Amino acid sequence: MAGEKKDLDWGNLDFAYRPTDFSYVSDWADGSWDEGGLTREHSITLSECAGIFHYCQEVFEGLKAYTTADGSIVTFRPDLNAKRMRDSAERLEMPAFPEDRFVEAVKEVVAANAAWVPPYGSGAALYVRPFMIGSGEVIGVAPAPAYHFHILVTPVGPYFKGGLKPISLRIAEFDRAAPHGTGNIKAGLNYAMSLKSTMDAHRAGFAENLYLDSQSRTYVEETGGANVLFVDTAGTLVVPKSHTDSILPSITRRSLVEVAHDLGMKVDERFVTWDEVKEGAFTECGLCGTAAVISPVGEIHEGDLAVSFPAGHDEMGPVMTKLRETLTGIQDGAVEDTHGWLVKI
Ligand code: PLP
Ligand code: COI
Repeated sequence: MAGEKKDLDWGNLDFAYRPTDFSYVSDWADGSWDEGGLTREHSITLSECAGIFHYCQEVFEGLKAYTTADGSIVTFRPDLNAKRMRDSAERLEMPAFPEDRFVEAVKEVVAANAAWVPPYGSGAALYVRPFMIGSGEVIGVAPAPAYHFHILVTPVGPYFKGGLKPISLRIAEFDRAAPHGTGNIKAGLNYAMSLKSTMDAHRAGFAENLYLDSQSRTYVEETGGANVLFVDTAGTLVVPKSHTDSILPSITRRSLVEVAHDLGMKVDERFVTWDEVKEGAFTECGLCGTAAVISPVGEIHEGDLAVSFPAGHDEMGPVMTKLRETLTGIQDGAVEDTHGWLVKI
């Protein structure tokens, strides 16, 4: 859907909330979702006893919409967000929002806000944030009797300040996710857990934390808001796995694994120890996610120790650059979408 765009400084957007024209809402009560639809209202009014306020029943998603060179608007694999939101909701005893309706709702709210989808080539995108909360009243610990599903959209630029400049991480002191806990779902409670760590990291001059597995503190898991990828000295893309199912199944990461195969790269999805990272096994490191896209990591610190990734220390390394260019090219239509990942609005 082509059309006039809003008058924003698209190339200089940061990752911040800016209300747009429409959001999408639907409510669940007595066993079913209502018809749902667009709204110009960007606030939610709730009882003081709503489940979200007391027992943190909230799950969310994140995806983006892009303008392609011909002015069309597309989203990237919204079906996987729909599926992951279902999994997240089930884990927290919330009713799933039907996956087909999720995709339709994303299309409807993006189409209604077409003027807010950043133009092709701007480097920005429309961030789509579906979320669901326990809106019904509970006082004893129990699932809420009613739920509110909502999609807000907002135009965004890069997640990390400095765009493509390699960032520094540090090993977190606190854990993000318990073994076999909720690390593998997208629930607000995981992010509340990481806020103290994140702010401590920022105060110490780091962009983010890298979390080790909380059971043994041996294996690399992920950061507070993105999965982590490495490139080893043989040029293989190494993707950390978890023994305790505490890594969020990133849609960007799953897509990059396929992109890497398409590019003829070797990919190894395996357990990665922090020791091997310290011993210099990897030449490049990057964070991947909807918000992060691929953000290069130059260094990871633990106390006085700094591990540096030689091929990607001063600027993004060649493998991460190739992966990033291919993925973003697919996402904005510049590279052929051989997998059928784009959904046209
Ligand atoms: N890991 C965490 C903890 C996240 O919050 C996100 C963001 O969505 C990701 C990984 C990346 O997932 P995706 O690529 O599906 O956005
Ligand atoms: C996303 O990438 O969509 C997320 O939800 C991560 C968050 C840290 C912004």
